[in-house]
Amino acid sequence: MTITRFVLNEQSKYPESLGDFSILLNHIVLGCKFVCSAVNKGEEQKKLDVLSNEVFIKALVSSGRTCILVSEEDDEATFVEPSGRGRYCVVFDPLDGSSNIDCGVSIGTIFGIYMVKDGHEPTLNDVLQPGKNMLAAGYCMYGSSCMGAMMMVHELVLSTGSGVNGFSLDPSLGEFILTHPEIKIPKKGKIYSVNEGNAINWDGPTAKYVEKCKFPEDGSSAKSLRYVGSMVADVHRTLLYGGIFLYPADRKSPNGKLRVLYEVFPMSFLMEQAGGQAFTGKQRALDLVPTKIHERSPIFLGSYDDVEEIKALYNAEE
Ligand code: AHG
Ligand code: MN
Ligand code: MN
Ligand code: MN
Repeated sequence: MTITRFVLNEQSKYPESLGDFSILLNHIVLGCKFVCSAVNKGEEQKKLDVLSNEVFIKALVSSGRTCILVSEEDDEATFVEPSGRGRYCVVFDPLDGSSNIDCGVSIGTIFGIYMVKDGHEPTLNDVLQPGKNMLAAGYCMYGSSCMGAMMMVHELVLSTGSGVNGFSLDPSLGEFILTHPEIKIPKKGKIYSVNEGNAINWDGPTAKYVEKCKFPEDGSSAKSLRYVGSMVADVHRTLLYGGIFLYPADRKSPNGKLRVLYEVFPMSFLMEQAGGQAFTGKQRALDLVPTKIHERSPIFLGSYDDVEEIKALYNAEE
């Protein structure tokens, strides 16, 4: 089952979409391939961010199905020329984990999709929507260096709102093949994932949670720590193995580091669709209503029971 056929099947559930959605998704997949090949050509890190953004935007615009694009790399949203417009808004982080490029550790592209209401002129309010209004979200993960593009392992994980499916690039076909159908995150995990170097600045509930991971009070075994520093890689492992990923608020960054529209929302959407949870420290992440396109939020996401525990600690604080 290729991703193209998978998306066509999904789409037959929504006959009114007239094929636009699968055309858009095909162009997102193409954009991911372009980003990966740009990364492989191995220019400087700074230029690679810019280059990835350019190729991804070109792939989206050439679909003829987009109207508003929000990228981590651009201060302002891009409004597609009226003649080349469609009804979809795409929010994305073209190259996530850029600090890992030079040492060959996994990086990726994250995306989320909204739709403009029929017959409306697109405005920024079409993307300043809670994450639960997304139609689809996903990411593609690439190894950041190797013996050339043909050797690269790409994993593409996608949800169109009815579960989560994982695809792997078959280099001999150049096609993504369904390898992880119906991904469900384990209800409880054995791994926590956080930049513990920030611990000096954490708030009470986060500090207490991590302490409990290491010194459990209920006789259970301590959790293992895994932290790559590429959100795509840390979330991918969390989805498959279970556990929790945290990027909390701290005294230096009261809103955390990760951006709501193109990091927090897509990953939270996938987690919920896989049976897990995503929490901001105050509320369900997908209920957040962003007021700025580059807004940040603390985020705790992963296995249902593990997120339930951190929720209890924050709720007890109030
Ligand atoms: P980006 O490379 O798009 O700027 O994002 C980096 C993000 C994310 O991938 C990761 O989870 C986080 O930064 C790691 O941050 P720390 O280095 O502060 O742990
Ligand atoms: Mn990022
Ligand atoms: Mn980025
Ligand atoms: Mn960046």
